[in-house]
Amino acid sequence: MRISIIGSGYVGLITGACFAQLGNDVTLVDIDKEKVEAINNRISPIYEEGLNELLNQVHIEATSDYHRIIDTDMIFLCVGTPINKSGNMSLRYITKATEQIARVLTDKKDYCLVVVKSTLVPGTTEELLIPTLERSGKKVGGDFGICMSPEFLREGKAVYDFMHPVRVIIGEYDKRSGDMLVNLCNKFNAPILRTGLKTAEMMKLASNTFLATKITFINEIGNICKQLGIDTYEVAKGMGFDERIGSKFLNAGIGFGGSCLPKDLRALVASSRKQGYEPRFLREVLRLNDRQALIPVELLKKHIPLKDATIGLLGLAFKPETDDVRDSRAIRIVQTLLAEGAVVKAYDPLAAENFKRLFPQIQYVTKQEVLKCDAIIIITEWEEFSNLDYKGKIVIDGRRVLKAREARIYEGVCW
Ligand code: UGA
Repeated sequence: MRISIIGSGYVGLITGACFAQLGNDVTLVDIDKEKVEAINNRISPIYEEGLNELLNQVHIEATSDYHRIIDTDMIFLCVGTPINKSGNMSLRYITKATEQIARVLTDKKDYCLVVVKSTLVPGTTEELLIPTLERSGKKVGGDFGICMSPEFLREGKAVYDFMHPVRVIIGEYDKRSGDMLVNLCNKFNAPILRTGLKTAEMMKLASNTFLATKITFINEIGNICKQLGIDTYEVAKGMGFDERIGSKFLNAGIGFGGSCLPKDLRALVASSRKQGYEPRFLREVLRLNDRQALIPVELLKKHIPLKDATIGLLGLAFKPETDDVRDSRAIRIVQTLLAEGAVVKAYDPLAAENFKRLFPQIQYVTKQEVLKCDAIIIITEWEEFSNLDYKGKIVIDGRRVLKAREARIYEGVCW
């Protein structure tokens, strides 16, 4: 199959590299010329486990020229859909990319399938993307097909998740479109669920919103447990045996960050309000998650005055095994510490460079130097933090690093 991928961010690059590995002929299109060059030189522009190796094994071509995809069978739309300040999804990139695809469709002779991977609020494929594509003069259903097939890739494990999906969701415009994508995806050992375009869009948002809610729920239980001197992790273990609850995503701590959960939740809230429904419960999840990031600093204040104190941070990434700092809890924590007049020293094995762009004014040091600070906050549960010597220190643990319990003063946020 000849596959074109529009957008070579996390989703596009992984989708392209993995489909190439599965024997397809893949072309990646991105307007960012530096990225294109890096990919053609077989250097991944992002850190992702196994991706560099994969790029070096497969035949894949990157370009900024949309016309190179004229002979393609399938076009995957993988551009980012960030949100603006009011939480609305910005459709700038996806609109531009779709207009470019429409130009290609105008000259294209054979039928092809457009597959939307970008996360969208329900209705966007039908109301925006199809009309934009039809401006090519070609008709959906006859000249081209369209599917919405959301991705469920965890950062850091994205290559594995792509190759071993737990489900494949195919929202289809019509049977012909769906059949074509099923043909490509039935190599995966996973159930395929065929549904409508809007429903597929909602499945993605609802899945991420549920995960965010589950984390917020266990954090709330954790905050109560902390007051009662109960270990939340033991409680979660007891709950997790019940299959209706499940044991995953019950790690209480300083809450969820990253480029997906906060963004998707905000987008769902904003789109729901636009439709005239006030999603109070989901808004509260967002509010509670914001508050959760402030708890470590509140706990710290019980033990030392923050003005002029040197506070060491272990971890800046939004989770381990990634260099991504988007919506990382570290952002709120650093802002608060600086506002309190503390001196901040931070260490992260991968994310320090990215964090430096946001906060050039703090010091980036080794983990040994962090250990020499007046007090330490653990923000990301990197494996290597389980091998440090915390004896004699003051440690506030946002992520349950058990070894840190040996500290002179140790406080977990929810335990
Ligand atoms: C998330 C979803 O898990 C993926 O299924 C989805 O495909 C992806 O978003 C996406 O929409 O692209 P990701 O953002 O990579 O994946 O990160 P998660 O592993 O979900 O973690 C998100 C945040 O929740 C992290 O800050 C993590 O520390 C926190 N978390 C996670 C908890 O605080 N407790 C938990 O029990 C689990």
